[in-house]
Amino acid sequence: MTSELLQKARDFEAQYGPHIPNSERPAFHATPTIGWMNDPNGFSVYKGEYHLFYQYHPYSVEWGPMHWGHLKSKDLIRWERLPAALAPDEEYDASGCFSGGAVELEDGRQLLLYTGVQRNHSPEGYLQDIQTQCVAIGDGVNYEKWPANPVLEGKDLPEGGSIVDFRDPKVWKDLDGNYCAVIGNRTEDGSGAVLLYQLTEGLKGKFVRILDRSYNQYGKMWECPDFFHLDGRQVLLTSPQDMTPVGLEFHAGNGTVCLIGDYDPQGTGFTRQSAQAIDYGLDFYAPQTLETPDGRRVMIGWMQNWDTVNAKPYHCRWFGQTTLPRELSVRNGRLFQNPVRELEAYRGQRVVHQNIPVCGEINLPGVQGRMLDMTVKVRPTGPNLYRWFRIRVAKDGEHETIIRYRPDQGTLKLDRIRSGLPHDIVHTRSFLVRPRDGEIELRVILDRFSVEVFVNDGEQAASAVIYTPQEAAAITFEAGGSALMDVEKYDLIFNEEM
Ligand code: FRU
Repeated sequence: MTSELLQKARDFEAQYGPHIPNSERPAFHATPTIGWMNDPNGFSVYKGEYHLFYQYHPYSVEWGPMHWGHLKSKDLIRWERLPAALAPDEEYDASGCFSGGAVELEDGRQLLLYTGVQRNHSPEGYLQDIQTQCVAIGDGVNYEKWPANPVLEGKDLPEGGSIVDFRDPKVWKDLDGNYCAVIGNRTEDGSGAVLLYQLTEGLKGKFVRILDRSYNQYGKMWECPDFFHLDGRQVLLTSPQDMTPVGLEFHAGNGTVCLIGDYDPQGTGFTRQSAQAIDYGLDFYAPQTLETPDGRRVMIGWMQNWDTVNAKPYHCRWFGQTTLPRELSVRNGRLFQNPVRELEAYRGQRVVHQNIPVCGEINLPGVQGRMLDMTVKVRPTGPNLYRWFRIRVAKDGEHETIIRYRPDQGTLKLDRIRSGLPHDIVHTRSFLVRPRDGEIELRVILDRFSVEVFVNDGEQAASAVIYTPQEAAAITFEAGGSALMDVEKYDLIFNEEM
């Protein structure tokens, strides 16, 4: 049965969503039907299609009582809108249906596991959350909340675990057919942990173990965990709040961490061997992954940062978008990510320029646009070794977004100071990169309101949203000193009738 609250959200989005023209949205990054989006939720395969839910407040472009919005896709690039899936319409989730995951059940139904939030007055009189894990089951469009909700609550926490910060279950089916979930939690030292649970018969949750903890090293509360085997290693992703910066690897505030290690499910559990940022740009948080039917591990993130959500274009009718889904791999102990190969089916005309000397600022015939896939390779030439190299995209007389490489420092900088946002927020971020044989490769994906850069075949990725007017479409290249470059550029072509 559709509750009154869910029906209200569905009616609202059906009435106002179509008022937003396609040209005011990205062409191949997911956006909310109307209003606000944060984390991707329930990113999974169901009946042969990709489903993507999201944290959703349809009634304004601000965060509010959380619903789940819903999209599906055949190829991870074009998303079809479905009616909102969940509304905060039960006592145990009255303050919000927070993030969670989805999985296809043996009997063909789809299970959503999400965090139900109840906000109560504590004995001291201040408001505090009670967070529990809840189930809804459905057919890919309509979902019934499970009568025995919540399936995981305070008594299911390990000693010292906080019921106020117990959220974001990511669920999957393991090789033995068990439904497993990782959930973020805050422990007695005030910092984060990832807990592993199993769903037993009758959909009751059972605590299995603590997989890893922050010990105040990587931020406080660990939000939105994910856990999977990849290329012979075990990967734990999490999005910590309140990070302290570490060199150019981790920035302050809400960040993302990829922990790579080994996993011994019967014995020692997860042993972490390395930690790195997931995305080095300005806007990236709360990623989730799925396994495609052909065995690829694909990740999608919220292309936004909590610290910058108050800076939005005036009069916008949607706010928040996802990143491009990215294929993951682990190589030499590091996480690599590249745009899903499905994007290549949307490539239009190919423009190639090879061995172009760059010294001063140049543009190239056929190289401009705001929806494109461009790879630039830069190498030194001659005695006047270049000290910096800049690509400017989304450019006109007033605007530009700059990708700057400094071989002397080994840094790449993403700069969206002049990208259409009249707000004094963090607009630049630099990170360390490793050139290969003296050459750096930068793959740049533009989709109207974003820039994503993939460095050296995906060894690093950096994302940023931009609000530059669409007419600002020039691209230039500039070097301080002399460099040689190759450019391969495709327009991305979409039929936007739908
Ligand atoms: C992460 C997060 C989650 C929570 C959701 C609420 O961005 O804070 O921990 O479930 O957003 O919308």
